[in-house]
Amino acid sequence: MKKKAFFITLEGLEGSGKSSVIRYLESYFKAKGLSVIIFREPGSTKVGEKIRQILLDKANMELSKHTELLLYLAARTQLIEEQLKNTLVRYDVVICDRFFDSTLVYQGYALGLGAIVEKAVTMFSLKVIPDLTLLLDMPAKDGLRRIKNKDRIESRPLVFHNKLRKGYLLLAKKYPHRIKVIDADGRLSDIYKRVEKVLKNKFL
Ligand code: TMP
Repeated sequence: MKKKAFFITLEGLEGSGKSSVIRYLESYFKAKGLSVIIFREPGSTKVGEKIRQILLDKANMELSKHTELLLYLAARTQLIEEQLKNTLVRYDVVICDRFFDSTLVYQGYALGLGAIVEKAVTMFSLKVIPDLTLLLDMPAKDGLRRIKNKDRIESRPLVFHNKLRKGYLLLAKKYPHRIKVIDADGRLSDIYKRVEKVLKNKFL
């Protein structure tokens, strides 16, 4: 595979504003005449969207931690093989709303599955690694406040979400060249400016 695309992933806590930043990124790159495609995780394939429903459905509270891990990995593998491999060759910019860092932080760090997650993520990410990961950082309770109907994961207690934030910041320290922390508190226009600064430093 001869990768042409710049591959960007968005990470962050629940309600951290990833969707708005993705819309901003799309218009930023399109204004430069670049082709852009956007995916979300889990999802963006027929099978992946079905897996997403299982994972987020509050009726499925009995899902075990390991089943949860395997379902996220299954959705990702399907996305990589069905979509990412092709689009990374054909498009200029590929954007993904969450990717393997979510698994490292949600299942590995906050659910405590640890080393097994690192191994599994390496194995099933099929050597697809983002060029840039924007981590939208804000206090967990502020993001959660924005969500009306909470899904299975969002309904977890605040300690879980606080742990996610800690896990993400640790990950950003481990991979400082790839993961850039964006302060996602405050006005959208200020957040976009912070994102633009990172993009300019990184490559454009
Ligand atoms: P969202 O993309 O709409 O935020 O929903 C995805 C949910 O799934 C979110 O709660 C984060 C969670 N998640 C994991 O726990 N592990 C993963 O590997 C991924 C991709 C998402």
